[in-house]
Amino acid sequence: MLPDDLPAVVRVHQLAFRGFFLDRMGPAFLRGYYRAVLDWTGAIALVAQTSAGVQGFAVGFADPDGFYRHFRARRRRLIPAILLALIRRPSLLADILRNARRVEVAQGAEPGVVELSSIATAAPGRGIGAVLVQAFCAEAFGQGAVAVALTTDRDDNGVVRDFYERHGFKHVGHESRGERVLCCYRLARP
Ligand SMILES: CC(C)(COP(=O)(O)OP(=O)(O)OC[C@H]1O[C@@H](n2cnc3c(N)ncnc32)[C@H](O)[C@@H]1OP(=O)(O)O)[C@@H](O)C(=O)NCCC(=O)NCCS
Repeated sequence: MLPDDLPAVVRVHQLAFRGFFLDRMGPAFLRGYYRAVLDWTGAIALVAQTSAGVQGFAVGFADPDGFYRHFRARRRRLIPAILLALIRRPSLLADILRNARRVEVAQGAEPGVVELSSIATAAPGRGIGAVLVQAFCAEAFGQGAVAVALTTDRDDNGVVRDFYERHGFKHVGHESRGERVLCCYRLARP
């Protein structure tokens, strides 16, 4: 992922994660988020591209707590985007506060475990996700990771859970986030 890819990455994110928190925060906030990803040296940030442009992306971190510290350190520059989001949707306030608290608390990630935080494609079901997840894991293991970890919704999410399981991820537990229950998946280095 390069700075020039940001507009397309934001578009793919909006399409793939419609209605989720970051999408509801609006394109300016999303752009700030992915800009922070690009500026964080510990990120693995990949795009899948054809002649028609960016078709998908995969983003993750060897040290997610480090990334969230980096993200918090630049929150001042996100204030205009946050205010804009609140003017458009005042009901976002509770979610903003909840998410701000969540990134304050260190998750205590295990050393050597790379977190796949976000993967999305503009047109699902065409094999782009397969290319991205394989490239992401190859990059993580190439950098010395012992495992790739991710979380995804447990409920009404069979297609995505099957997708990860077909790529070798093992279901290792659950995590609650507000009313959402997330499945934790892990792929060990081959
Ligand atoms: C999850 C995601 C990244 C997978 O990417 P993708 O390009 O659809 O992946 P692929 O085409 O390689 O594989 C999808 C598989 O699911 C199957 N599938 C069935 N119904 C499908 C549907 N409605 N949409 C997508 N894939 C579907 C495909 O046929 C394919 O099966 P196969 O592996 O047997 O060929 C993509 O679907 C996506 O962006 N989803 C929305 C965002 C999201 O939920 N991301 C994950 C957050 S944890």
